[in-house]
Amino acid sequence: MTVSSAPGKVYLLGEHAVVYGEPAMLCAIDRRATVTATARDDDRIRVQARDLTIDGFSVEYGDGVVDESTDIDVPHPLIEAAVGYVDGAVEQVKEVVDTTGFTITIESEIPLGAGLGSSAAVVVAAIDAATREMGVELTPEEIAQRAYRVEYDVQDGQASRADTFCSAMGKAVRVEGDDCRPIEESPELPFVIGFDGGAGDTGTLVAGVRSLKEEYEFAADTVETIGNIVRTGERAITTEDQQELGRLMNFNHGLLSALGVSSRSLDAMVWAARDAGAFGAKLTGAGGGGCIVALDPTPDTATALQYTPGCEETFRAELDHDGVRVES
Ligand code: MEV
Repeated sequence: MTVSSAPGKVYLLGEHAVVYGEPAMLCAIDRRATVTATARDDDRIRVQARDLTIDGFSVEYGDGVVDESTDIDVPHPLIEAAVGYVDGAVEQVKEVVDTTGFTITIESEIPLGAGLGSSAAVVVAAIDAATREMGVELTPEEIAQRAYRVEYDVQDGQASRADTFCSAMGKAVRVEGDDCRPIEESPELPFVIGFDGGAGDTGTLVAGVRSLKEEYEFAADTVETIGNIVRTGERAITTEDQQELGRLMNFNHGLLSALGVSSRSLDAMVWAARDAGAFGAKLTGAGGGGCIVALDPTPDTATALQYTPGCEETFRAELDHDGVRVES
């Protein structure tokens, strides 16, 4: 039995635009997915999961086809998505080691599909745990590369390397196309997360931005402008200018909203954070529902979010310096 974990993330700036080769900056946060891999004597893959903010589930399948659901009658679409990511991770493992079956157990502190990188963290931790279980040690960069291929396939070829690279490496990272690198001197930023209890479908949201971009030149310009916001943010991050970063996050949220990926509850939380005095706030990840991230060193934003209609949970998040790591 081998146990690995990997962190979730927030997008400081640049989601969606990063899919089209614009830069993005992300920070790993101290909420992790933990995966236990145990080799089996047969060729079956058994996936068990707990704490995915949906009731626990357990499915067993061979050759990637879910053929039995033991704990729940109707698998939740998000659970099916999680199984799809694990399936992809196991396919990657099979490219590296000669193996048959695994029991994979997932425990996660990261809500599914909420913009905090749950799927990337599960895939990264699963690849690490399963390869180590078979005696092979991949570097975090190799894991990031393989995890990216899983996200790329599951999201029908519409994925950037950002989420998987950040989860594998930890700290703050900058991603632009194939150029992925940790940001030296990753800043300790005062993140406050607001979660509306919902989730967005990344594939659908990415496809929506793509079609807007193809139809309207101003939508394509909006995507480019998000890239320019990120370039401006690079200066602010090196000088740890939180006020400037907050201003840029506000700008970035407005443009994501214009691209149709915000929602009423995300907007309400963003405005509540700003009204409470946060330096800035924006949705994080694909959008459509899920989480916002605000910068606020005081307790004011967290308190205001607790009373914001549509906000189900709020918490502070710290930068996680560790990427994928062995737990046992
Ligand atoms: C999803 O967390 C972030 C997106 O930019 C998609 C991607 O980068 O693959 C929306």
